[in-house]
Amino acid sequence: MDKISIKGQNKLNGEVVISGSKNSALAIISATILANGICRIENVPDISDVRVILDILVKLGAQVTYETNNILVINTINIKSYTVPYDMVKSIRASYYLIGALLGRFGEAEVELPGGCDFGYRPIDQHIKGFEALGTDIVIEHGLIRAKAEKLIGDKIYFDVVSVGATVNVMLAAVAAEGVTILENVAKEPHVVDLANFLNAMGANVRGAGTDIIKIKGIGKLQNNVNHTIIPDQIEAGTFMVAAAATRGDVIVRNIIPKHMESLSAKLAEMNVNIEVGDDYVHVIGNGAMRKANIKTLPYPGFPTDLHPQMAVLLSLCDGASAITEGIWDLRFQYVEELNRMGAHITTEGVTAFIKGPCSFIGTGVNTTDLRAGAALVIAGLVAEGETGVDRVNLIDRGYESFVNKLRNLGANIKRV
Ligand code: EPU
Repeated sequence: MDKISIKGQNKLNGEVVISGSKNSALAIISATILANGICRIENVPDISDVRVILDILVKLGAQVTYETNNILVINTINIKSYTVPYDMVKSIRASYYLIGALLGRFGEAEVELPGGCDFGYRPIDQHIKGFEALGTDIVIEHGLIRAKAEKLIGDKIYFDVVSVGATVNVMLAAVAAEGVTILENVAKEPHVVDLANFLNAMGANVRGAGTDIIKIKGIGKLQNNVNHTIIPDQIEAGTFMVAAAATRGDVIVRNIIPKHMESLSAKLAEMNVNIEVGDDYVHVIGNGAMRKANIKTLPYPGFPTDLHPQMAVLLSLCDGASAITEGIWDLRFQYVEELNRMGAHITTEGVTAFIKGPCSFIGTGVNTTDLRAGAALVIAGLVAEGETGVDRVNLIDRGYESFVNKLRNLGANIKRV
């Protein structure tokens, strides 16, 4: 299996262009199943999670044409099957969106329980609660979810926890339901808004995405041909911003929506990193002494959990004691052992990582445990003395397009081997 080899201590310098959002693309590509028209989608990130979901669509009967690596035309008119085979879903978490989309299209879906990054138990009780409220019978047997609705009927659903996945999934089914669905305590992430815009362009009537309440007037089949551009990836942008600061570099992170980056930009500024915000870019200059900080990860607009491991690297470089409290994934601490092997001083207690800095990272062989942990290990390798080998690059490929090339273009001494 490929690994990433890095010779550390080069400052990142220059400009990087951010790709389309992974989590938006996964939701929107799933949503094309609802279309009775042709969907042309731009700014699709060329990453393995996207390739997997596209393969599933093709297996179900869709036609996917590439205008370029990042512009796709998807025709789902001929999809006939509502059964998704296990070998295809096991590697990606977002395969559960196929339940909502297939339910909306056929009133029926059979999908194996999803895989994806392993942060321990990842329940989908809120997805199921939503589908059941819309009139769906759900049976779960040996990991297979069978969902069937004689007729989807709109309802009022209050989610017990704020869940991106449940919000997206129930939206997908609700656009095809009869009557009005009101979703309360929903996720407000930018990709939820992007999906709502895409569904509306296809003819749906979704209002309120980006607030705590989403109202959907079900309209059955979505008829319009649609042309949509996926929003930039907030987490890829954040990863490069952190890498720039960690290497004391000078990097312009382009093609982003700065509003989506506010929680990170504010935290970096608090740490004394120089941040200049433009219309569609953030300029990060990491030349001063960085200050320690405390972080709590929360649903959007709070600090994103998917930047937690990367920030642990940056805080390790600051003088004093910092803490990151995880508000989403209780077990998102597998990166700690590997960073400590590189020289960090991180201990955990409950859902908090206590970080004592400054540390000197020393290059060594490390093991990627999940997508964002992998990105954090690469950043640690960029600042480390000597050579770092990051294993299991396939996990990083799930969510970062051309990660190694983009870093090399910024001056990193990095290669894939
Ligand atoms: N939860 C429940 N019940 C549910 C669903 C979720 O209790 O039915 C809990 C989870 O256990 C968690 C919290 O609610 O504690 C939030 O989970 P959420 O459903 O929001 O997460 P997700 O939809 O499974 C997406 C991203 C993750 C990201 C989280 C949080 C996709 C494909 N994945 O996961 O992305 O960490 O939202 O923002 O959109 C990543 O990109 O590296 C990644 C893991």
